[in-house]
Amino acid sequence: MSMTDLRARPTDPAAVAIRSLSPALGVEVLEVDVARPVADRVVATLRAALDDNGILLFRRQRLDPESHIAFSRRFGTLQEVAQKQYQLGGQPLIYVIGNVAENGRAIGDPSVGRLWHSDQSFLPYPAIGSLLYGVQCPPEGAATLFANMYKAWEALPAEMQKRIASLHAVHSFSEYYEGLRDRDATQPPLTDARRALYPDVVHPLVRRNPRTGRKALYINPGYATGIQELPGADGASLLTELCQHATRDEFVYAHAWRDGDLLFWDNLAVNHKGTPFDTDRFVRRMHRTTVAGNPEVYAASLIA
Ligand code: SIN
Repeated sequence: MSMTDLRARPTDPAAVAIRSLSPALGVEVLEVDVARPVADRVVATLRAALDDNGILLFRRQRLDPESHIAFSRRFGTLQEVAQKQYQLGGQPLIYVIGNVAENGRAIGDPSVGRLWHSDQSFLPYPAIGSLLYGVQCPPEGAATLFANMYKAWEALPAEMQKRIASLHAVHSFSEYYEGLRDRDATQPPLTDARRALYPDVVHPLVRRNPRTGRKALYINPGYATGIQELPGADGASLLTELCQHATRDEFVYAHAWRDGDLLFWDNLAVNHKGTPFDTDRFVRRMHRTTVAGNPEVYAASLIA
């Protein structure tokens, strides 16, 4: 079964044991070794658990790049990492994140994801899911925060839901990248070719899970720059209000990483952001695969 399979969800409670990670969202999946072949009924149940809980945590995994990719592929087509300098050597489907160096060369992206965001919301068909594996995790700092965007939508007052139900946010890679360069001078300037590859896009402020129909607020301060229907100050203040609302404490889970953790999140259901750590004392090395978006899943997430 893949993430693009939009048929009814076959679930099998006997296939997988899970336990809650936090009142806000997330479950830990127990006793699944994802490096080994995973049965179809287990994959189907994981898919349903992700739909319901936004993130899945698998602890004590031992993943090499091949097994990380093989498991990720069970949920859809994987996307090649756009920044070639952060592709794992010889493996373009694995994005290396962190302050890790090899032979004196930085091989990890040191500054990705420090603002709340949903992966690739700047694309017409944003990434569906992301699977981040902790190869080497600092003993303190470097938590990843996740916000439950279903709960964020459901907690909005009815009049606000009505007001924003037909609005769209503009998502801009170029503006995000300029901001990133302000924070991290090591990032190279944006080339004209890359700017042309990622023109601004718009997405509705509310989308739904293609399988369950549950509605989620879809906006993030990392890539969204305004509201299409409300140019100017009104749109800017609505954007700020919604982004602040979405990260209220009761919607957020902070994941403290241990080596061997694999976290799988649904980019429609959650926003996330990385947090700092002491880069002089600790090395952080994370490997991420990304399940690519596609027109079919995107269309099924739109509210008629
Ligand atoms: C990401 O945004 O995918 C990375 C988050 C992190 O490094 O904790």
